[in-house]
Amino acid sequence: MQTAATDMLNIEFPIFAFSHCRDVVAAVTKAGGLGVLGAVAHSPQALETDLAWIENEVGGRPYGVDLIVPAKYAGDEDGGYTLDDIAQLIPDTHRAFIDEILERYDVPELPADDTTTRSNTAVGGHDGNAPFSANAALPQLEVALASNASFIANALGPPPGFLIDRCKEEGKLIGALAGRPQHAERHQAAGVDIIIAQGSEAGGHTGEIGSMVLIPEIVDAVNIPVLGAGGIGRGRQMAAAMALGAQGVWCGS
Ligand SMILES: Cc1cc2nc3c(=O)[nH]c(=O)nc-3n(C[C@H](O)[C@H](O)[C@H](O)COP(=O)(O)O)c2cc1C
Repeated sequence: MQTAATDMLNIEFPIFAFSHCRDVVAAVTKAGGLGVLGAVAHSPQALETDLAWIENEVGGRPYGVDLIVPAKYAGDEDGGYTLDDIAQLIPDTHRAFIDEILERYDVPELPADDTTTRSNTAVGGHDGNAPFSANAALPQLEVALASNASFIANALGPPPGFLIDRCKEEGKLIGALAGRPQHAERHQAAGVDIIIAQGSEAGGHTGEIGSMVLIPEIVDAVNIPVLGAGGIGRGRQMAAAMALGAQGVWCGS
C-alpha cells in the first residue's frame, strides 16, 4: 500500500506502532510497518543498548524513537527542574499521607541498594534531572540522533526549536502528536513533517476529542501527512481512519 507516509519513510504499510517494548518495535518494522520506541523511561545508556538491539534485529529497515519534550513547562528557562527541586516542592502533608498509606497496607520500603527501580525509570534515569525536561531529553535526543532511526516523534506540544533543528541537521523526519487542530497547526508551523492526530480513545492522552471527529479536522487544518491514532486496532478501523483522510495509522494499545 502506498501513501505519503509510506513514501516519506520508505515502508511497505502505513502502520506505525508506538511501544515502550523494543521487541514490539522490531517486530513491526520487520513486518513492513514502522516501529517507534517510546524512550521517556530510558536512561541514555539503556536507550543506546535498546537501539543497538533493534538495529541488529531490523537489518537496515526504518524505525523511530519517541521522546517527550514539552515546549513550555515550569523551570524551562533553565532546561527544567531537578528531582531535588521538585522534592522540595512536595508539602509535608503529602509525605505524611503517603507514609500513612504505606504503613496501613504493610508496603515495605524499597531496599536502599535498589538501583533498577530508582535509576531506570521515567523519574529516576536522568542523572537527577526531572522527566519531561530539556535537560533530561537532550542526552536521549543525542543518542537517538546518533542512531539509524529515521523518525523522531515528540509527544507533548510542538517540539522545541532545538529538537527540530537537530533532527533536520541529522536528516531525521520529525513527528508530533496532536489532540486538537490548533496543536497540529502549531506543529506544522514549527517545522514538523508528520502529524499524529490522537483522539481521546488513546487512553485519554492528548485531549478530549474522539478520533472520528479529530482526524478529519486535523487533515483539513494542515497540508502535511496525518496519521490517525486512538482506538485503531483492526483493519476496519485503519480503513476508517484512512477514509477520513489519514495517510496511515499510529497504534499504541
Ligand atoms: C499506557 C500508554 C502510554 C503511552 N505513552 C506514550 C509516550 O510515552 N509517548 C507518546 O508519544 N505516546 C504515548 N502514548 C500514546 C501512544 O503513542 C498512542 O498514540 C496511543 O496509544 C494510540 O491509541 P491506542 O492506545 O488506542 O492504540 C501512550 C499510550 C498509552 C495507552
